[in-house]
Amino acid sequence: MKILGKEVLADSQGVRIVKITIQSLDIAAKAKAGQFVVLMVKEEGERIPLTVVNADPKKGSVDLIAQEAGFTTKLLIGVKAGDSLYSIVGPLGHPTEIKKYGKVILVGGGVGIAEIYPVAKALKDAGNQVISIIGSRNKELLILERELKEVSDECIVMTDDGSYGRKGFVTEALKELLEKSKYDLVYAVGPVPMMRAVSVVTKSFNVLTLVSLNATMVDGTGMCGCCRVSIGKEVKFSCVDGPEFDASQVDWQELLKRNSIYTEKEKHICRLSSVE
Ligand code: FAD
Ligand code: FES
Ligand code: MG
Repeated sequence: MKILGKEVLADSQGVRIVKITIQSLDIAAKAKAGQFVVLMVKEEGERIPLTVVNADPKKGSVDLIAQEAGFTTKLLIGVKAGDSLYSIVGPLGHPTEIKKYGKVILVGGGVGIAEIYPVAKALKDAGNQVISIIGSRNKELLILERELKEVSDECIVMTDDGSYGRKGFVTEALKELLEKSKYDLVYAVGPVPMMRAVSVVTKSFNVLTLVSLNATMVDGTGMCGCCRVSIGKEVKFSCVDGPEFDASQVDWQELLKRNSIYTEKEKHICRLSSVE
């Protein structure tokens, strides 16, 4: 799959976030908000899931936004326009249910901002009142602010260090909004601790809260069992049953534990490889 373009969105404190535009007529024609792809950068590499941030059926192109996390995202960030990815499969997962809920809040933390953007856009197009809360560690790591503002009635920016917007966590702004008014849906994507904190806040306000889980995936098609999550009393596969689930039903402790299974091995691979 040919890479049409690459843009560095953030590069600060050792964290790089890039937007990569890939040519794929089929994925561009079918992808809907909330869906993802699974790609391999090189034949000998691993498969990683990334959200479809934007799909342009006319151009046959798909935008992905990746934050450097370890070996494979480093490889991906190293690609150049004109290079080709070894493989890409998608769109995968259930699309977000887009309908008129009424008043919705979207919460994005870090690279999760990229994942809420297509959903915010689709919910706005469906006639909802959209409030987005986006947060990052600092000003340099904040992505897609302009794009989120374009599709939101209000966009609240939070930074951990106060270098831009308001100082504090996204959950503080969320709690304030929920205390002032009634909302029909909260949709959150970000690191697991952030989504869990959102779930704790929204539980006391009894508002439907959806989260897109970043469970570790291998095939992405329901065959390997790697992305197993516990939702209420049921076992689900995040790739085919999700990736979105009711936040109040997620076993967060189990998700955190399963997501760290390969942490030591991945560090080892990074040390052995020349990818820096
Ligand atoms: P590693 O060092 O291998 O891992 C770092 C951390 O990333 C691990 O602790 C684990 O929590 C997670 N991870 C590792 N391998 C996988 C895997 N195969 N599947 C899922 N998580 C993994 N990241 C983005 O930057 N942008 C996105 O749009 C995005 N969308 C995602 C959508 C879905 C449905 C899922 C499940 C994850 C998404 N992620 C996204 C996370 C991304 O897949 C991981 O950051 C990436 O796989 C890390 O790989 P690595 O080898 O660079 O890092
Ligand atoms: Fe294999 Fe979901 S990634 S079952
Ligand atoms: Mg990896």
